[in-house]
Amino acid sequence: MNKIQAIKGTFDILPGDVEIWQHVESTVRKWMRIFGCFEIRTPVFEKTDLFARSIGEDTDIVGKEMYTFKDMGDRSLTLRPEGTASVIRAFIENSLDQRGLPQQLWYMGPMFRQERPQKGRQRQFHQFGVEIIGSPSPMTDVQAMSLFDCIAGELGLDERSFSVNSLGGDESRDAYKKSLLLFLDTVEDSLCEDCRRRKTTNPLRVLDCKVPGCNEAVHNAKNLPRTVDSLTDEDRSHYDAVLSMLTKKGIVFEEDPFLVRGLDYYTGVVFEMKYSGLGSQSAIMGGGRYDKLVKQLGGQELPAVGFACGMERLVMVLKEKEIAAAEGIDVYVVNVAGDGDYTAFDYTDALQKHEVSAMTDHMGRSVKAQMRTASKLNARYVLFPEEDDGMVSAKDMNESNQETMSFIAFLEKMKK
Ligand code: HAM
Repeated sequence: MNKIQAIKGTFDILPGDVEIWQHVESTVRKWMRIFGCFEIRTPVFEKTDLFARSIGEDTDIVGKEMYTFKDMGDRSLTLRPEGTASVIRAFIENSLDQRGLPQQLWYMGPMFRQERPQKGRQRQFHQFGVEIIGSPSPMTDVQAMSLFDCIAGELGLDERSFSVNSLGGDESRDAYKKSLLLFLDTVEDSLCEDCRRRKTTNPLRVLDCKVPGCNEAVHNAKNLPRTVDSLTDEDRSHYDAVLSMLTKKGIVFEEDPFLVRGLDYYTGVVFEMKYSGLGSQSAIMGGGRYDKLVKQLGGQELPAVGFACGMERLVMVLKEKEIAAAEGIDVYVVNVAGDGDYTAFDYTDALQKHEVSAMTDHMGRSVKAQMRTASKLNARYVLFPEEDDGMVSAKDMNESNQETMSFIAFLEKMKK
């Protein structure tokens, strides 16, 4: 019979890798708590309209990449391509503003985009992210970036640097659109069909077009206008405050005047972190300020800022840099007993009941084979039950020494 395979662009996360994921997850949880963020879990599917209204009809995500389907009631539903829209929907629907502002909500889970799969680009991928709702202050932009910087720092991403830019609010963006349109007229012949349309519907989206010829024509041109040159005084001073706080805190960044991000809801500072070694899919995280979205989705006028990190890409970086979470079990109990002797099994059971991770053999394998398993499991101790009742020999796998003691004494030592 034909084997059924996983869907293209989806992957199993196997033992060995799962430990790295868990290491990332626990680091994320730790820093979210330190920064006073609370976890929120939203459904993986929502009404299609939610994403169309927030991410934007003209974006690649909404236009080409969503998994959209009709349910039995003929309603159009979509597997979430990102987390921000759902978090804001949940914030409004559950009146989370009543719990006090700002609300600092973080999330972690699978997202779905029907993109062409390649290294670092899946159709089901995972993000963790945070949305801070209620504060207009540049301190909050910096806090979001600082939070990610702490997580990345603890995970060992040493050569990290943010790319930062500002799109500004409506007035700044309208001014920018005007100069962008003048520029786009000069490269019109090189634009792809979609971008010719976007030129009239949403010119900013031309800047993050993924079609090679089109993208190069735009980004290689010397006269491509910079968003920062169109900022109002207010937007400029917000941006300057962010840059100066980042510098003061020693958070490494560089300005990228052409960074616009691929989602429509941004209204101010935007940022990304790229990591060399990931190939063309080099962005491990991205985010920015989006002060209009809460209102746009039916809530009150509330500013917000957030980011999301692609966890597959982060795990790839950790693996490439060999920053692995070397997790293993505490004790492997060698089972040399014959039929009806359950000593090794009983010792294992006693260790487990005292929350010491332990395993033994149930398959009658040789001591040599069991030692191989212990080493694959990265066991800290290998325990040999001795002939003398209640005595064991404990081999410390890190220090390569062996000690004989009572099982009770070993258990006490492990409990400590
Ligand atoms: P985004 O830039 O679309 O932003 O995605 C954030 C990160 O998710 C990317 O930098 C990348 O690491 C990862 N990612 C995106 N698509 C894929 C894919 N197909 N395969 C693997 N990884 C992928 C957002 O999603 C915004 N919601 C971020 C945000 C939160 N802005 C404000 N708050």
